[in-house]
Amino acid sequence: MTVDEAGRALADPTAYADDRRLHEALALLRREDPVHRVEREGYNPFWAVTRHADIMEVERAHTRFLNAPRPVLVTAELDAMNAERAAQGIALRTLIHMDDPDHRVIRAIGADWFRPKAMRALEPRVRELAKRYVDRMAELGGACDFVQDVAVHFPLYVILSLLGLPESDFDRMLKLTQEMFGGDDTELRRGTSPEERLAVLMDFFAYFQELTAARRAHPTDDLASAIANARVDGEPLNDLDIASYYVIIATAGHDTTSSTISGGLRALVEHPDQLDRLRADPSLMPPAVDEMIRWVTPVKEFMRTAVEDCEVGGRRIRAGEALLLSYPSGNRDEEVFEDPFRFDVGRDPNRHLAFGFGVHYCLGAALARIEVRAFFEELLPRLESIELGGEPEGIATTFVGGLKHLPVRYTLK
Ligand code: HEM
Repeated sequence: MTVDEAGRALADPTAYADDRRLHEALALLRREDPVHRVEREGYNPFWAVTRHADIMEVERAHTRFLNAPRPVLVTAELDAMNAERAAQGIALRTLIHMDDPDHRVIRAIGADWFRPKAMRALEPRVRELAKRYVDRMAELGGACDFVQDVAVHFPLYVILSLLGLPESDFDRMLKLTQEMFGGDDTELRRGTSPEERLAVLMDFFAYFQELTAARRAHPTDDLASAIANARVDGEPLNDLDIASYYVIIATAGHDTTSSTISGGLRALVEHPDQLDRLRADPSLMPPAVDEMIRWVTPVKEFMRTAVEDCEVGGRRIRAGEALLLSYPSGNRDEEVFEDPFRFDVGRDPNRHLAFGFGVHYCLGAALARIEVRAFFEELLPRLESIELGGEPEGIATTFVGGLKHLPVRYTLK
């Protein structure tokens, strides 16, 4: 593989479905050209930032590297469509699309809800849901597709409970989030054309518009009410900002955590010594959770756009050029992690970048850790044995993802 081929893999959804190929490409880039210019047909050019230190530097300088107008990697066609919609004032504007001063104000609305203290109050409900899904595994009789039968449901139900949505709507939301985030994958997608993607977005908007109206008429104490009734400078948020908030919470909180739980289980199955170690010493659960998050790194990238000419990792970047922050690469950086390709449930320190860094640092990090921990704390004491029941299959996406199928055979107490 050449350095240019490795760079192009970053804009190839299928490369992310194959861990070995992906990490071969990322290791080559870190070694040979850590800030590498990628030109791939169908995509606007970008710089791939693959070293931990350079990713941190870009994230830290949030007034010089903006999330707008290109927060994630999409095709040139979608970039153009997004720019057109932004000019018309009808584009999705979530936290990840914003910069200060708007970002700080809008983030504060949700931030209260996601403080570790508030999350601890939510823990009993999370544990109850985790137990429900371990019971589900038992009901399935010793074999299942762990992703489709368990992992995609549990985190979505946590997030929908947090928002205050009724359980009867959960299946509809599951389908919509998969259509939105599984957008490059032929099995999950509704379609990849701009029109089909827009249709998915519009379905989301319609659902959340109804919810806003209901929470304004009858406020409750859930997150949906806090968003629907929030005021900025004395004014309520407009429909687009409200819908965008729901979309980012519902989508960001779902596939990320479910991918971590399935990838984490796979790592434990494939490293039985680490599974035994964790079962023998449950006090290792907090570092084990972070090691699973590092190992899987479900968010593959975010992008930033340079405000002015500058230098990153010794490369000259021009104003207006985009940089892709490769989190899977930063999380295997040999300069930062001792033996980065070893799965080590006791890893300490573990300065992974899976939740990003700086002002956009993941709002749901505390919740995600609680969910992963609750699930494995329910599962492990009941688990007598577990093995793969077939070949795991990855999702083809350049953005958020992990496994699509994880067949397992197991015995539960
Ligand atoms: C942002 C990762 C779970 C809500 C982010 C970012 C990453 C990330 C990398 C961007 C950070 C940056 O630009 O520096 C993850 C991972 C998760 C996870 C790996 C699970 C293991 C969640 C959960 C929620 C959530 C459970 C909550 C519902 C958000 C929100 C943002 C965000 C709202 C936007 C923050 C902003 O732009 O200010 N996440 N996330 N995430 N995440 Fe998460």
